[in-house]
Amino acid sequence: MNNAVSGFSKLSKEEKINWIAKKYFSTPEEAVFLLKNYWNGDEKIQKLHDEFIENTITNFYIPLGVAPNFLINDKYTTIPMAIEESSVVAAASKAAKFWSTRGGFKATVINTEKIGQVHFTFNGDVSKLNLFFAQTKSKFFSDTESITKNMQQRGGGILDIVLKDKTNLLPNYFQLHATFETKDSMGANFINSCLEQFAKTLKEASQEYELFTEANEEVKVVMSILSNYVPNCVVRAEVSCPVEELAEKHIPNPQEFAERFVQAVQIAEVEPFRAVTHNKGIMNGVDAVILATGNDFRAVEAGVHAYASRNGQYSSLSHAKIEDGIFTFWLDIPLAIGTVGGLTSLHPLVKFSLQMLENPSAPELMQIVAVAGLAQNFAALRSLTTTGIQEGHMKMHINNIINQFAANDEERHLIKNHFKNNTISHSAVVDFIENLRK
Ligand code: MEV
Repeated sequence: MNNAVSGFSKLSKEEKINWIAKKYFSTPEEAVFLLKNYWNGDEKIQKLHDEFIENTITNFYIPLGVAPNFLINDKYTTIPMAIEESSVVAAASKAAKFWSTRGGFKATVINTEKIGQVHFTFNGDVSKLNLFFAQTKSKFFSDTESITKNMQQRGGGILDIVLKDKTNLLPNYFQLHATFETKDSMGANFINSCLEQFAKTLKEASQEYELFTEANEEVKVVMSILSNYVPNCVVRAEVSCPVEELAEKHIPNPQEFAERFVQAVQIAEVEPFRAVTHNKGIMNGVDAVILATGNDFRAVEAGVHAYASRNGQYSSLSHAKIEDGIFTFWLDIPLAIGTVGGLTSLHPLVKFSLQMLENPSAPELMQIVAVAGLAQNFAALRSLTTTGIQEGHMKMHINNIINQFAANDEERHLIKNHFKNNTISHSAVVDFIENLRK
């Protein structure tokens, strides 16, 4: 079957849906019904979502949950989390509650520098290029004045531009490596606009530069783009308390718990296979808040994992220690995010989430996101080093199994009752449902 199509983006939404339904489904009317069933009843909201991307056919739901009781820098916060994984919000809420009676979370923004680069080649005398750059540097700033004016009024702008010789990596490869402060915006558009102007200035000014007389002294721009690796845009989240205060129902021996917890973190610090899963648990919390607040989780993910490898081996983002009877657990994470621009003023649920967070500045949101990551990591390590992860996970996942079998209210009640005191596993729940239905 030939499933190629030309001019698809020009078709109306209805026509696109019909084309897909007829091409790929034996009962096209059911496929159409499903897609339309997920449309928003409010035409204005639907139109807004349709226009976020090209070729929208419907909406793809994931739950928006909240984790209350997060005491962050002495202030209670209810954190919005958009995520499909059963146990994540429950784990965050549990960790929030646990730490709310032990001093809460402390969060500090360490720095907020963003990075962008103009990649170019030059095959001539490097000392001439250095001289050219020194003499042209101020022009990169003046040529971007119309772009930077508003950002400067908000206290941001271009911090610096340096010429980097990368010819040890690739023949003739140089960069303009620029740093930016973008205040409450993530800054991608601002940075990319500046970079494209730098590239233009670079090209034009180099063509006019009197010392570049040879043909091989031509500056050739390859591309201009921000970097999602932001090792100087880092926030720290931390919890700490005397070891004995860790005691509670499931932690009868806090010293033993604290020691095992620290060991678990040390394993993630030295062992990449474990570090990836350990950090994935952190990202459960991070991505959920990033998504709920309309930020770009792909950018954050890419930057975070590069940061986790910055010393040459992939390693844990979080660390833990016991010193003088005090247990401390902390996380350093690079987060280039915004609370203005992008989706933040467009997506109604993003606006809702930001309002629930009391309209934070970008640095405040960095703190909240980092705390969500640390809380998630704490919850995971606490389960892993005590009961094991499956107990809590299956408690939440049981709903998915029940839904998969379309259990009615009575069956649901019986299943939940039975598994209050019995170990939950997929097959045990399935067996139980099948027995009920015999
Ligand atoms: C599951 O989504 C996340 C965990 O695997 C994280 C971890 O192992 O630390 C539980």
